[in-house]
Amino acid sequence: MSTQDFDYAHAFSRNLGWVTEAEQILLRNKRIAIAGMGGVGGTHLLTLTRLGVGAFNLADLDTFEQPNFNRQAGAMMNTVERSKAEVLAEMARDINPSLDLTVFGEGIHADNLDAFLKDVDLFVDGLDFFAPEIRARVFARCHDLGIPAITAGPIGMGTAYLIFTPDGMSFEDYFRMSGLPEKYQYVNFLVGLTPSAPHRRYLVDPSRLSLGERRGPSTMMACQLCAGVTGTEALKILLQRGPVYPAPYYHLFDAYRMRYRRGRLFWGNRGPLQSLKCRLGYRQVDRMLAETPTPEADAAVPSTPIHQIIDQARWAPSGDNTQPWRFEIHDEKHFTIHGHDTRDHVVYDLRGHASQIALGGLLETLEIAASAQGMACDIQRRSGMPENHPTFDVQVSKARVEPDPLAPFIPARTTQRRPMKRRPLLDAHRDALNASMGPDYHVVWVEQPAQRRRMARLLWDNAQIRLTTPEAYPVHSSIIDWDAQYSMERIPDQALGMDPLGLKMMRWALGSWQRVKFLNKYLGGTLLPRLQMDLLPALNCAGHFVIVANKPLKTLDDYVAGGRAMQRFWLTSTKLGLQFQPEMTPLIFASYVREQVDFSDEQRSIQRAIRLSRDLQGLLGEQTVEQGVFMGRVGYGPTPAARSIRLPLARLLKGSGQGR
Ligand SMILES: Cc1cc2nc3c(=O)[nH]c(=O)nc-3n(C[C@H](O)[C@H](O)[C@H](O)COP(=O)(O)O)c2cc1C
Repeated sequence: MSTQDFDYAHAFSRNLGWVTEAEQILLRNKRIAIAGMGGVGGTHLLTLTRLGVGAFNLADLDTFEQPNFNRQAGAMMNTVERSKAEVLAEMARDINPSLDLTVFGEGIHADNLDAFLKDVDLFVDGLDFFAPEIRARVFARCHDLGIPAITAGPIGMGTAYLIFTPDGMSFEDYFRMSGLPEKYQYVNFLVGLTPSAPHRRYLVDPSRLSLGERRGPSTMMACQLCAGVTGTEALKILLQRGPVYPAPYYHLFDAYRMRYRRGRLFWGNRGPLQSLKCRLGYRQVDRMLAETPTPEADAAVPSTPIHQIIDQARWAPSGDNTQPWRFEIHDEKHFTIHGHDTRDHVVYDLRGHASQIALGGLLETLEIAASAQGMACDIQRRSGMPENHPTFDVQVSKARVEPDPLAPFIPARTTQRRPMKRRPLLDAHRDALNASMGPDYHVVWVEQPAQRRRMARLLWDNAQIRLTTPEAYPVHSSIIDWDAQYSMERIPDQALGMDPLGLKMMRWALGSWQRVKFLNKYLGGTLLPRLQMDLLPALNCAGHFVIVANKPLKTLDDYVAGGRAMQRFWLTSTKLGLQFQPEMTPLIFASYVREQVDFSDEQRSIQRAIRLSRDLQGLLGEQTVEQGVFMGRVGYGPTPAARSIRLPLARLLKGSGQGR
C-alpha cells in the first residue's frame, strides 16, 4: 500500500467504540515525549501510535545489539548497530505515515531537555533502569512545566507503574533520590516502584543481575504489560476520562503470580518502612558489587573442533561433581583423557566404580558432541595404566555421521534433588527410556505407590548409614559449596534440596565430626536431612529405576560401558522433559556387602548395610542388585534453579598449569 492510500480514520477505526470519534481526533492532536526506545519505550511508541496519537518526541542515543533481541520491539537482524530512535521512528511511520515525529538521536541531556518536552501533553518514561539521574531530571522538569508523566518498569513477568500529575506528589518527593550515590538511587527507585515484591519468588537466578555491568534480566511479556498499562493511563490522562491514581499511589500487576495491587505511600520512600527497605537494599547492593560475576564470565572460548567437543563433554556428570578427568590435546585430531578415581578419599568410590561410570558418561558425551560437528571418535583405553588412572586415547575424524538427537541436551542435563510431581510416566516416555541404551541393558522400574513407599523407606534407612558413618564425614564436609547457587567443583548447598533453615543447621553440624555425633546422638540430627533429602523426594517422583546390565559387571570396562548407558538414559530423560536424580548409595553399599569391602570401622554401619542390601534384594531381586549399574528416580517438574557447573575448559586441559 502506498503512503497516499493511508487514511488515518480508516486505519484506527477499530479503536472506535472504546473511544468516540471526537476522542480519536483529540488523540491525533496530542504529542507525547518518550525517552528511551528500548524494550519498554519502543513498545510504548508502537502501542501509542496504534492508539492513534499523532505526534511524538523520541529520544535514545543507543544502537541495537543482539542482547536486545529478547525484549526490544525494534531489535532484529536488520537493525543491529542501527540507531534505536531512527529504527523506531521508521516502524511508527510504517503504522502511521502522517505522524509528526521529532527524533533526538543524541538522547536527552540538560541542554535539550526543554526542546524534548516542548508542546508535550504527556511524558512517558522508557529510560534504562540504570539511568536514575537523567530520569529524575526529566520528571522534575515535567513537574515544573505541568506535564503529566508515567513510569512503568518491567519487573519479572509483570509491571510496576506510577503516574505523576502536576498537582500531585513529585517524583523526588516520592523516591527521595537526590544527593544519593548512583548505586543507592537504583535501590530507591526499585523500592519505590515495587514496595511489595511479588516477582522475588520466581526469580530463579539472582546472579543474572549485575549492577557492576549495568545489566539485569528482563522479559518481553513485562515490556508489553508496561505498554498496556501505560497506554491505558495515557488514554485516561489525555482524554480526561476515568479514575487516575497518581503518586503517592503505586500500582503492581504481576501476570506470573496473577496479582494486581494498588497501594499508597503517603510519605513516599521517607516513610519508616520504606526507609528501612532502602537501607537493607543499600547493604545488598554493596554486597552484590563486591561479589564475583556470573558463571559464564570466566568460561574459556573454545577454538578448534576438538576444543569445542571437549567443552561440551565436560558437562558429563560425575559423583559429587568431582570431574575425575583432565584432557591433553596433542594435535587437531588426537587427544588423551587422563582419568582417575577417588578411592583414596571417597567412601562411595572404594573400588573406583563410581568414577569409572562417570568416565563412561564422559566418553558417551564426547561421541554425542562430536556427532553434532560431523565427527566420529575412535576411543582406545590405554593398556598398562594403573587401574585407578584409566586413560583413553581419542582420535577424532570427519565422518558421515548423523548428529545425535541427544546432542542439544548435553548442557541442560542436570540433577534435581527436590521433590518432583507424582504424575506417572507416560508410556511413550518409559518406552523411550527403556530403548535409550541399546540391547545390553534393561531397566527395572519401581513405580507403583506401594513399591515407591518401600523404596522411600529403604532410602530413609540408607541415609542413616550415610549420615552416621564416620568415613563418610570427610566427603560430606568437603563436597558442599555453602551459600551457593552454582559450584564449579562441588555441589552448591542450594542444589541439595533442603530448606534454608535445614541448611544452616547442616552447615553448623558439618563443622566437625564431634558436632555431627552430638546432634545425631541427642537431637535426632539425621531426621531433618533424611526427611528433606531422602524420604520426601523418594515419595514425590514418577518412579525409581535401576539400569541393569544383561551380564554381571566384572571389569573396569564393564563399568565404563555402564556409564555410557547411564548418560544416554539421563540425556533422554532431559530430552523428554523429565527431572532426574541418581540414588547410587544403596547399590554401592550392597556391592560392598557382596564383595566384603570393609567400608567402615563402625560395626553398626556394616550391620546396617547388610540389612539394607537384604531389603534392596527383597524389593528389586538379587540379579537386579548384582547387575545394577545405576539407580535413581525420575519425574515431571521444573528444572532446578541451583546446580553444579563445571571447571572452565582451560583448567581441565593438561599443560595449562592448572590441571591436576
Ligand atoms: C556415578 C554417579 C553417581 C552419583 N550419585 C549421586 C547420588 O547418589 N545422589 C545424588 O544426589 N547425586 C548423585 N550424582 C549426581 C552428581 O552429584 C551430579 O551429577 C554432579 O554434581 C553434577 O551435577 P549435574 O548433574 O547437575 O550436572 C551422581 C553422579 C554420578 C555420575
